[in-house]
Amino acid sequence: MNVDELKKAAAEAALSYVENGMIVGVGTGSTANHFIDLLGGIKSRIDGAVASSEASANRLRKHGIPVLELNDVGQLPLYVDGADEATRQLHLIKGGGGALTREKIVAGASDHFVCIADESKLVNYLGHFPLPIEVIPMGRSFVARELVKRGGKPVFREGFTTDNGCVILDVQNLEILDPVKMEAELNMIPGIVTVGIFAARPADVLILGTEKGTETITA
Ligand code: 5RP
Repeated sequence: MNVDELKKAAAEAALSYVENGMIVGVGTGSTANHFIDLLGGIKSRIDGAVASSEASANRLRKHGIPVLELNDVGQLPLYVDGADEATRQLHLIKGGGGALTREKIVAGASDHFVCIADESKLVNYLGHFPLPIEVIPMGRSFVARELVKRGGKPVFREGFTTDNGCVILDVQNLEILDPVKMEAELNMIPGIVTVGIFAARPADVLILGTEKGTETITA
């Protein structure tokens, strides 16, 4: 199976977490897109979805799935999203698609966070994938210097603006041995909107598409 088929297999397995009448939180990226397409097939069973990006909202609407505002629906029962890296402790790096802030908000507002990925995303330690950080544009250089002081090598994501009108720094060279601590520390730097470490609110379930079938890892 190719990587895309493994992503789709993980997305298919996540469908079993969808219950009748749910409003489902939906993530962003190619794996989340598979989930959206599959959700389209059972749309009559759900009341709607909350999207973590404009791109996902548009895809949901194309399937005829009502897209609701998080502010109007309150707490969600379920959030399904992909990841750039994941550990067996269910800590994640997210933001490769630049949607990390809304993803973290929707994950935080959800009772159950099911992360779906192909097996290549499973790592022993986070940090090989450059850490995406969403930054207020006028603070970009200051934030970059602060990240350098902490041993990081920030790279400005050229030509990319987030759904929130901000920019992304992709930070290489960070040793993320304690994800909860590093997430909290980096969040303290003025100008940072969101760090792509999802550790304070990790996933509850990680479904990996593997050559041998799907593997489900729980907390
Ligand atoms: C978007 C994300 C995605 O979940 C992450 O980049 C994984 O993407 P893909 O499913 O395409 O591999 O965090 O901001």
